[in-house]
Amino acid sequence: MKLTLKIWRQANSEAGGAMHTYQLDDVSEDMSFLEMLDVLNEQLNAEGEEPIAFDSDCREGICGTCSLVINGVPHGPDRGTTACQLHMRRFKDGDTVTIEPWRARAFPVVKDLVVDRSAFDRIIAAGGYVSINVGGAPDGNAIPISKEISEKAMDSAACIGCGACVAACKNASAHLFMSAKISQLSLLPQGQVEQSKRVVSMIAQADAEGFGSCSNEGECEAVCPKEIPISNIARMSREYTRALLAGT
Ligand code: SF4
Ligand code: FES
Repeated sequence: MKLTLKIWRQANSEAGGAMHTYQLDDVSEDMSFLEMLDVLNEQLNAEGEEPIAFDSDCREGICGTCSLVINGVPHGPDRGTTACQLHMRRFKDGDTVTIEPWRARAFPVVKDLVVDRSAFDRIIAAGGYVSINVGGAPDGNAIPISKEISEKAMDSAACIGCGACVAACKNASAHLFMSAKISQLSLLPQGQVEQSKRVVSMIAQADAEGFGSCSNEGECEAVCPKEIPISNIARMSREYTRALLAGT
């Protein structure tokens, strides 16, 4: 395939950025999207141009590092799929593909397509953990948990912290991310002890980082590569209201 790529280039967080156009003439439909960018970077290297900075690590949909807005959609056109799992067979010969970084005030651009997502780490540090002493590992069946609840907790734990939910939201809200982390803990007995303090601290940290609020647009759920449902946000809001009413 021959492709025209329009890619955001930005030297650092202070510099202004712009879209640059590149031609790639020999793209195989079997390449992953990131392999296609590797090929472009080899071409740029050979031409003496600076390669395009982009983030990746596992390249199999589990680390949450790849953060590309492809043709206007975080992680690209395939539902439930990270950018690293997207394949070039999804595109046609002659296509123009735009590639941009996540855009949100709380995720400043580091360089080109790389953004700083350490705000998510600070939200987790504010309360996304269990700090009570629960003693030694109990027998697996000592605390019975229903299948429905354990599956909901596991589904919430599937969040890979990629930030696509923030990038898709017109408010740059981190609610889907936070609600997944909160649900994963508060659905289980070990996480319930600190549930009020956790939700208040994490939401306060998200506000301080500059993430917006939630206005139920649903864009986050639509682009989430792990298909985390927005019903988690409703659970988080209930926990937050309860915590505030209890004076937490
Ligand atoms: S909720 Fe989904 S989109 Fe948001 S950080 Fe987690 S995996 Fe990524
Ligand atoms: S590189 Fe790890 S999820 Fe994409």
